[in-house]
Amino acid sequence: MVLIKASKLEKEFNSQAGPIKVLTNINLTVQTGEFVGVVGPSGSGKSTLLYVLSGLEKASAGEILLFGEKVGSMNDIKMNEIRREKIGFVFQFYNLLPNLTVLENVELPLVIKKSNDLNKASEILYLVGLDQFASFYPSQLSGGMQQRVAIARAMVTNPKILFADEPTGNLDHKSGTEIMKILKRLNQEQKVTIVLVTHNLDHVAYCTRKLELIDGTIGKDERVSV
Ligand SMILES: Nc1ncnc2c1ncn2[C@@H]1O[C@H](COP(=O)(O)OP(=O)(O)OP(=O)(O)O)[C@@H](O)[C@H]1O
Ligand SMILES: [Mg+2]
Repeated sequence: MVLIKASKLEKEFNSQAGPIKVLTNINLTVQTGEFVGVVGPSGSGKSTLLYVLSGLEKASAGEILLFGEKVGSMNDIKMNEIRREKIGFVFQFYNLLPNLTVLENVELPLVIKKSNDLNKASEILYLVGLDQFASFYPSQLSGGMQQRVAIARAMVTNPKILFADEPTGNLDHKSGTEIMKILKRLNQEQKVTIVLVTHNLDHVAYCTRKLELIDGTIGKDERVSV
């Protein structure tokens, strides 16, 4: 099933020196179950692509279908619902709330959703190997552990797609590998479709597909052989 379909996507930012073209003629289809690794030089538009595909940023031209629905023409309520129910996000700098415990951070999307089933938070903490740390505060954990909490928080609502923008960018080698293994497991066992931005070419080996951005266009788009 096609989860994301982008056609003739363009993105421009306005700067004092005039408009800057950041994405040019992006045509892309992501199917259920894929694990896409987006690579490319700094400034090539990787983060922008992630934000535009997920509806966080508006495209300047072109069309995006998310779960078959056109992003530009959805109203805010519908878009928020999709974001809350079907999409998870993980960023380079975890963005955990410092005054909430690990468990409370992971429960937060469920509380916002007014879900009665807060048990899901403990289950997913177990899945990322942090059930023993439920009552800790983020500052008491290592960077790698905080990122695992952020992944648990992103996954607690059972999203169909997980977007991750350099989730290992701030971590040491060992913690980075752990995060990639967790993502791989989510992709294979929970069938979560993942679009990951990374600078680390070794991490592309965990993906099923490598997408290379060069100056805002797709350079290479190839299957990763295992
Ligand atoms: N909000 C913005 N306003 C103006 N220009 C922007 C904005 N966001 C990004 N850009 C520009 O768009 C280009 C692509 O940025 P983007 O962050 O998508 O690159 P990237 O590939 O993710 O880079 P990195 O690997 O350093 O994270 C850069 O030249 C950047 O300066
Ligand atoms: Mg970036």
